[in-house]
Order: sequence, then structure tokens, then C-alpha cells
Amino acid sequence: MSFFDDANLARAKEIVARYPRAKSAILPLAHLAQDQNGWLSQEAMEQIAELTGTTAADVLGTCSFYTMLKRRPCGKLVVSVCTNVTCLVVGGPEVLDHLEHRYAAEPDVTVEEVECLAACGGAPALQVNYEFHERVSPASAEEIVEAYRSGSRRARTVSGASVA
Ligand code: FES
Repeated sequence: MSFFDDANLARAKEIVARYPRAKSAILPLAHLAQDQNGWLSQEAMEQIAELTGTTAADVLGTCSFYTMLKRRPCGKLVVSVCTNVTCLVVGGPEVLDHLEHRYAAEPDVTVEEVECLAACGGAPALQVNYEFHERVSPASAEEIVEAYRSGSRRARTVSGASVA
């Protein structure tokens, strides 16, 4: 049984055909799989391996390097909160703690702790589906997330594609 739906399977084959070595298509196919399903399941990695002439272990080895590729189900909104050094000293952990508790029972929001987002000048910083927000507090961070949930802010998919 195919992980990719018919349209994405055709697209996946087109992507593989672009590369001199099929193995080079692992990352674009991982993004395609994530756009289809929201995360990379074992079934997805097995089909990517089949399409690229590799093994599921090769696909996992590649995908596990990139934090944007999720290997567990995620909500439609992924909130990445930095708790690295600069954010640590100006309230990043408090923002993380607040959001983790606030959205613990909300399956449409996944809150994750991340390393430096390279936005130290605007610490504490977070991203919602990889869109930056700086100088946040626990309260303003929640307001930002709620703006995405209500649709007053437009979110992208976790892979960066625009949500219709
Ligand atoms: S330490 Fe948080 S963005 Fe750099």
C-alpha cells in the first residue's frame, strides 16, 4: 500500500527524476510527505526509501538531522520556543512553560523547545510554523498563538508551504 496519495506519488516520481542520483531526492520527498501527513511516519520513510533506492534507515538518518522534519504527529501549528543562552536569561523558559501548560490538551498546537533560533537580538524568541516572533512574554506568546488559531494571522504548513 502506498503512503503517498496518487497525486503526491506522481509528484514524488517527478522529483526523483530531477536528480542524477535518486538518493538526492530524500529531503524533498520528506517535505512532500510531511506536507501530506503533517509528520514523517515509518510508512512514509519506507516509501521514500523505495522511491530513492535506499533503506528506511538511510531516510531516518537523513531526516533525523533536521528538526523541521517531524517524526511524531504534530498539530497544525508548531510553536518553537528558544531556551538557549540569550533567551534563557530573559524569560524563554517561562514562555515555554506557559505555552506547554496552556496547549497541553490542544491537539492543534504542538509546543517544542528548540536551540538558538538566531534571533538573539530579539530574545526571548519563538517561531510559529517557522515565522519569527521576538521579545515575547508568556502572555504575548499566547496572544500570538491565538491569533494564528483564530485565523487573524495566516499560518504556513510546518514545511513552509502556504496554508490555503
Ligand atoms: S538564544 Fe534564543 S534566539 Fe538565540
